Amino acid sequence: MFDDVLKEVEEKCREERIPMLGPEKAKFVANCVEKAKPSLIVECGTAIGYSGLWMLRVLKNIGHGRLITIEIDSNRAEQARTSFKNAGVDDLVDSRIGDAQKILKSITDPVDFLLLDNNFDNYFPCFQAIESQLTNPATVLADNVGIGADAMADYLEHVRSHYESETHWFDINLPWVKKDAIEVSIYRR
Ligand SMILES: C[S@@+](CC[C@H](N)C(=O)[O-])C[C@H]1O[C@@H](n2cnc3c(N)ncnc32)[C@H](O)[C@@H]1O
Repeated sequence: MFDDVLKEVEEKCREERIPMLGPEKAKFVANCVEKAKPSLIVECGTAIGYSGLWMLRVLKNIGHGRLITIEIDSNRAEQARTSFKNAGVDDLVDSRIGDAQKILKSITDPVDFLLLDNNFDNYFPCFQAIESQLTNPATVLADNVGIGADAMADYLEHVRSHYESETHWFDINLPWVKKDAIEVSIYRR
């Protein structure tokens, strides 16, 4: 059941050119979640739930942790909610609709895993909006740091100069991009 939902979501993203991590980067993100075993993941940019499904599968398998995922497009967020329910992981996810920068400020629980995957120029404002809730240490992932480097230069300069931070490149088989990178930073106070 879970695999069927994930397959449907991936196909829909490819057909309708809805942005998603794609399997190459999603496997990497899932491995990062498995390694970190987070109590609370926050994701900026749900789209229709592709990356969310990959992370929720890990949380379900390890029996620990939950996800708050934020999407500004209500239609996409509703589709993601339906997929989370159909995949049987809706009890592990809180899907919020609105501007990530604003919604992040309402999160009061400690956040030990952050995935930035919304509009590129919002990465640094989003990081700053949730920084007070980040645990010490916290795992912070930023997608599209290859194709979006210019628009998120402030964010990249900050994490690379303040924290242990690595850029991981991927060959990707998506209709709209063939090579991109994810930045993994270990936030420490
Ligand atoms: C790259 S897609 C997310 C892909 C998703 N993480 C996945 O891999 O399946 C970026 C999403 O961020 C959303 N977005 C853009 N600006 C946003 C904002 N300020 N707050 C929340 N979501 C935003 C877009 O509507 C879009 O659906």
